[in-house]
Amino acid sequence: MRRKIIAGNWKMNKTGAEAIELAKALKVKSVNIERADMVICPPFTALYQTAEIIKASKIKLGAQNVYWEDSGAFTGEISLPMLKDAGCEYAIIGHSERRQFFGETDETVNRKIQKVTGSDLTAIVCVGETLEQRKAGDTERIINTQISNGFAGITQEQMKRIIIAYEPIWAIGTGMTATPEQAEDVHLFIRNLIKSLYGAAAADMIRIQYGGSVKPDNAAELLSQPDIDGALVGGASLKADAFIEIIKAA
Ligand code: PGA
Repeated sequence: MRRKIIAGNWKMNKTGAEAIELAKALKVKSVNIERADMVICPPFTALYQTAEIIKASKIKLGAQNVYWEDSGAFTGEISLPMLKDAGCEYAIIGHSERRQFFGETDETVNRKIQKVTGSDLTAIVCVGETLEQRKAGDTERIINTQISNGFAGITQEQMKRIIIAYEPIWAIGTGMTATPEQAEDVHLFIRNLIKSLYGAAAADMIRIQYGGSVKPDNAAELLSQPDIDGALVGGASLKADAFIEIIKAA
């Protein structure tokens, strides 16, 4: 059985003080939760404060992005050693907002996956199609391309440090969740793709999260699908009660 993992992507929200407040609430409310792994991904500026709050809890820290060089003249970027120093154990890579607004491509995603999986952090790699692509019947082709190119040169060993997040772009922040069946179909497709690329054991092991308008009232149904191993939660992760409800649904 794959252990479920629920991650909160705070996106560009929460100042340091606000992050501390939310992290404190999550720490208290998560004390008795054993069933799922919990990760929160605050903005870079709040990583240290948040790490300090959650260090004696079961909640783990993640970043929303990472650069593939360790240091140097790369204005505005944050490196893996910096994330480790801040206490991160996870890094989200290739979120659709980064692909849409900040020029991320499968090639930059690949370099970032190479970097993170070569360390002791775990990469949460996002893939997903637009509404036009879904309507055109292109979902599987798009996911295939994103994974084949994004994972180029990634070894079996590195796969152990990867979680895939299937996030249909049309469902992110729109309130339009994929139905459990729509999500399960793509999750199964992804698992079979991993099987063809890395074999049955890797396919069985890899955790595939669903993301896109996950809320307390739809989480249980999504998370009960056989190939949905967790959730990457945006909006609903900004409120302690809602995020904890989603974790409990796992
Ligand atoms: P949402 O965002 O839950 O607000 O739709 C999900 C995500 O972008 O990871």
